[in-house]
Amino acid sequence: MQLKAAIASAITRLTADNVPSPRLNAETLLMFVLSCDRAYLFAHPERELTSDEQSRYEAALAERARGVPAQYITGHQEFWGMDLIVTPAVLIPRPETEHIIETVLELAASKPDGSQEYPPHATLRIADIGTGSGCIALALAKELPAAEIHATDISPAALEVAAANASRHQLESRIHFRQGDLLEGLSGSFDFIVSNPPYVGESEEDQVQLEVRKFEPRSAVFAGPIGTEIIARLIPQARAALKPGGWLVFEISATIAEATKYLLSDWHEVAITPDLQSIPRIARARKPMTG
Ligand SMILES: C[S@@+](CC[C@H](N)C(=O)[O-])C[C@H]1O[C@@H](n2cnc3c(N)ncnc32)[C@H](O)[C@@H]1O
Repeated sequence: MQLKAAIASAITRLTADNVPSPRLNAETLLMFVLSCDRAYLFAHPERELTSDEQSRYEAALAERARGVPAQYITGHQEFWGMDLIVTPAVLIPRPETEHIIETVLELAASKPDGSQEYPPHATLRIADIGTGSGCIALALAKELPAAEIHATDISPAALEVAAANASRHQLESRIHFRQGDLLEGLSGSFDFIVSNPPYVGESEEDQVQLEVRKFEPRSAVFAGPIGTEIIARLIPQARAALKPGGWLVFEISATIAEATKYLLSDWHEVAITPDLQSIPRIARARKPMTG
């Protein structure tokens, strides 16, 4: 079968199986099977697939048709311009989580009067709680070359993926990984504590995409019955571990936005900023200089 015909028949099949974006999925999976880029697909429409390539493409399409996310089939997802390894042990990094990086970079760079709060080469101490694939820790390590980054996760399997990603990007000496519950085992005080914690409530499970429920790690998505269980523990732990004036920056959903504000009511400079879909997404709060 020629490459062009293989893509056409894959699109028909994925459409029949109600897979969203069938063309994108058909092309992504063929690029994965052929280890090529999109330009190659367009440049060689008449290239014949070998029988081995055809059967590997067929296997990948079958996985996708039963709902397995393309990222778990290819083993890759891009985040903050970096190609990351993902396995079913970790949440697939989402584009909206990049707002955490933007927020930290903004806060690290300036004071309200426009002057620098942290000198360019200051050794900021940053902790990423629930690091999963390591996406947040890696992006911050890349952007803040002088920062000392600590990253924790309760899942040893997730930490293996995060460590593999750090070494792929030559950032392994920059990030200290630790297995534990939230901030357990971290010592010293931090300028920033960042997190994309589990924040979905089991009571809203039926509103979560089926693919997420079936294939992404449950402990990465669900916090407990109502969704605030993890942040309710994270916020006081972060307060104890931050330096005076240090920042807590974490991802939330619209469902828990009001509860988040309540939990942060005795912090300073609390703000919740929206993502590109105007959904409340990133909470930030500053530990008071005293108290
Ligand atoms: C929503 S995922 C975020 C992963 C990654 N930071 C990202 O943004 O894609 C939440 C992560 O928190 C971890 N986690 C869940 N409960 C935890 C706990 N009590 N302490 C530490 N990590 C936890 C999960 O294993 C998962 O990797």
